[in-house]
Amino acid sequence: MLDTGFHSVPADDRIIVALDCNAAWEAIVMADALAGRAKWVKVGMTLYYAEGPAIIQMFKRRGFKVFLDLKFHDIPHQVEGAARSAAASGADMITMHTVGGQAMMEAAQRGALLGASDIGGPVPATLGITVLTSMNDETLAQTGVTRPLTEQVAALAELAMTSGISGVVASPLEASMLREILGPEAYIVTPGVRPAGAALGDQSRVMTPAEAFAAGASHIVVGRPITQAADPAAAFDAIAAEVAGL
Ligand code: C5P
Repeated sequence: MLDTGFHSVPADDRIIVALDCNAAWEAIVMADALAGRAKWVKVGMTLYYAEGPAIIQMFKRRGFKVFLDLKFHDIPHQVEGAARSAAASGADMITMHTVGGQAMMEAAQRGALLGASDIGGPVPATLGITVLTSMNDETLAQTGVTRPLTEQVAALAELAMTSGISGVVASPLEASMLREILGPEAYIVTPGVRPAGAALGDQSRVMTPAEAFAAGASHIVVGRPITQAADPAAAFDAIAAEVAGL
């Protein structure tokens, strides 16, 4: 078991439910099914670009923390503004591409602080995307990066920490390497998680929730094993029970 600064955080506060819905009503139905249990929901680009910041406020009113996964990547001035707007809309966790560089990540951090102060709220966690898990050594080389993919992931994760952001989003298979490099306090948020026996869907290289936490994840992102379960609340409870105390 790798040491992290997150062992004292309750299990239900370390599981983020990905609501990959196309419309607000679907997200609201799921949020109502999980209210009082799940603490976190993840809103991605599809839902956000359809519904705008109102969708964040809808979740906040129901008591959820919101992981707003918009993966900023632009010049620092734009990213500072984007992070400020996201923080001011109430997002509790935001994402950016680390390949935007140190100045861009520092700008995102500044924006997150400003947005939180605009609303007198907590500063969101700021997470970097290293290499998209849809990529491999060959497709990475097409972008001009010829070193091995894991070296690129490690280097970008270190750059994220140098830039003062909270941590990274990573495959659970990279979590232990990243925990070693980044130290116990960094956020390492891992999708690609499946409870034992659950359908893989389009995920291929997965870990169970318990394995992901044991590898050093601070938080896990779980979507369809919860949202497509016959009883989403029970599916959430089962995962929370499996990982309680890890
Ligand atoms: O339904 P499932 O548990 O596969 O959902 C996982 C969530 O995490 C989805 O929102 C997916 O887009 C996201 N994600 C992922 N793998 C990555 C990065 C993000 O599955 N490498």
